[in-house]
Parts: sequence; C-alpha cells; structure tokens
Amino acid sequence: MNKRVDTTRLQEMARAYTASAVLYTALDVGLFTHVSNGSNTETALVEATGLRSVDVDRLVSCALSLELLDWEGDHLVNTLDVEAYLVEGKARYAGAWMMFTRADVVGWFDMTQKMRVPDSTKLGMYQELTVESARKYHRATSSIGFGAARRFVKTVDLSARRHLLDLGGGSGAYSITAVEHFQELRATVLDLPPVVIATQEYIADAGVQDRVETLGADFTVGEFPAPVDVVVMASNLPIYDGEVIGGVVSRAFRALESGGEMHLIGEMLNDSRKGPVDAAMWGMNELICGSEGRAHTRAECQEYFASAGFVDIEVIDFVPGILARCVGRKP
Ligand SMILES: C[S@@+](CC[C@H](N)C(=O)[O-])C[C@H]1O[C@@H](n2cnc3c(N)ncnc32)[C@H](O)[C@@H]1O
Repeated sequence: MNKRVDTTRLQEMARAYTASAVLYTALDVGLFTHVSNGSNTETALVEATGLRSVDVDRLVSCALSLELLDWEGDHLVNTLDVEAYLVEGKARYAGAWMMFTRADVVGWFDMTQKMRVPDSTKLGMYQELTVESARKYHRATSSIGFGAARRFVKTVDLSARRHLLDLGGGSGAYSITAVEHFQELRATVLDLPPVVIATQEYIADAGVQDRVETLGADFTVGEFPAPVDVVVMASNLPIYDGEVIGGVVSRAFRALESGGEMHLIGEMLNDSRKGPVDAAMWGMNELICGSEGRAHTRAECQEYFASAGFVDIEVIDFVPGILARCVGRKP
C-alpha cells in the first residue's frame, strides 16, 4: 500500500523561521524573566513589558504553543528548560547564546545569492575580529561553553595530565574549568590575537592566571607549543574544510608527548549525513559567515586522527544530538 503523504511537515518547515523570531522577541522583552519573577498573568505581563495587550496575547499564545510557557492553574509558568536557561540573573542564563546567530538571519535568507556569487576566505568572519567583537562573541559562547567544559571534566579524567593545549579556546572555558578540576594541570589557550585579550579577562575573573596562559596565533598555520600531553579543540570544527582540520590534527599530534591524547569536540554528522540537523546547519552557517568550512562526518574526523598517527580513536556522543567528541592517543 502506498504511504499516504500530506503537506504538514513541509508547511512547518517553510515557516520554521517564525519560531526563531518569537524566541528572540520573547527574550528582547524579558518574557520568561518576568514570568519567573511573578508577572505570571497576561495583565501583569502588559504592565511589566509595556506592550499592548493584544501583543502580549499573541506572544503568550505562541510561547504556549511552542512549549516555552505552560499553564499552572490560572497563571503562566516557564517550562523546565526555559526556567533553567532563559531567566536573566540565574547562574545558567544562556540568552546570549540563543541570540548568538541573530545577526546572521538576513544572510541566511540571502543564501541562494551567496551560493550563486560565492565570496569566501579561509578564516571567514574570524579574520575581522576586534577585541570588542571578540568580547561580545565570547559573552555568548561562555554562556554555554562553561557548561560544556564541566561536562568534559566529568567525563574525561585528566588527573595524570600536566599540560593542556586548548586550540581556539575562546573564553578559556575548557582550560579554566580543567585546571580548577585537576590540581596538577596547567593550560595554554591558543586563539587569534584579538580574542586572547578577552580570554585573559576570563582567566583573571577565575583567578587562575598562574596556571592558564594565552597565545595569540592562527591555528591554521605554524607549529604548536610543545610538549603538551593533552590537546582540546572544541566547537570550531565546521569553520574549516577537511584540509585545514586534518592539518591542525597533524600538528597537534606533533606537539603531543608520546602517550598524550587529543579531543576534537564539535558538531559532527552521522556517516550517512542524515543528521543531526544542527551539525548540517552549522556547516551551512559557514556560507553565511564567508568561510570555506563545512560539516564533517564522524568517519571523516576519525580519518583525520588516523592519518595524523593517532591510535585508539573513538567518536563518542558528548552532548547527544549537538556535540560529539573524537578522541585519540599518540602511541
Ligand atoms: C565557537 S568558539 C569556541 C570557543 C571554545 N573552544 C568553547 O568551546 O567555548 C570558536 C573559537 O575558535 C577560534 N578560532 C577560529 N579560527 C581560529 C584560528 N584560525 N586560529 C585560532 N583560533 C581560531 C575563535 O576565535 C573562537 O574563539
């Protein structure tokens, strides 16, 4: 029997942008923060946001339908993830990360033209970073990166390691968290020269200047500081093509002592390339940001490690559906 089809899924996809737009506006007007702080009726939200009641009605209907809000009796509550991550002032607030790619919206809707008239460079948007734009960028990445780093130190035992090299370390989330967790560890955050100024501010805030240093450099060229016994490269995989990533992994291999380990953490596609959608979209994001990067599969990442000389290579789910971790050991 033929499988019946209808247009529902396609219609939803055609209008999926509406969900992003509602989330951005809800964050702009502090909807979830107001609800959490007790403005949990539409009357109270009109007062708290200063919006027209018709717009509060529209926004609340969308937020309820998107399962961002729920009813508890006659008042509104945030759903669990919203209460944890989208209420300003809470320790896990990740609003900056949710807004991170908002400036790219126009570019995404100009994708066809960007493909027809391509304009890309190896570093894409990263070649234009200033100290100020790096600070803004890492306010967003740090709102999610420190959580990922805590997950890393809980799952990877670095207690026998002495020197971590953190490639494209950004806010220093992985290095700072790792030295706080493993008493014998020191770390070097390597990132582009304007970025490491911002990195130093995070290091100073954490009070770990004596154990984490920075190096302003482009990891696509040149040898890395050596010797180190662990290398981490997190959340920059789709920015580059296979040649660049393969080159970075090979130079990391050379910088490692025998017995050392490398962890490449990033959005990786399944080998069939049928998802996760997020990994494919981060690859497409590089068209929008003007680099030559693309999404890489798990098998490709394993191959970069194998070609460099790593053994005991594995790809493990790190944040399922979002990030995977490829690990290998230098013999
Ligand atoms: C999404 S952030 C991830 C930061 C950090 N690893 C984390 O997970 O929180 C990507 C970082 O890679 C850095 N990066 C990108 N290209 C680079 C390059 N060619 N050389 C050095 N750093 C680079 C960026 O400046 C940025 O700090």
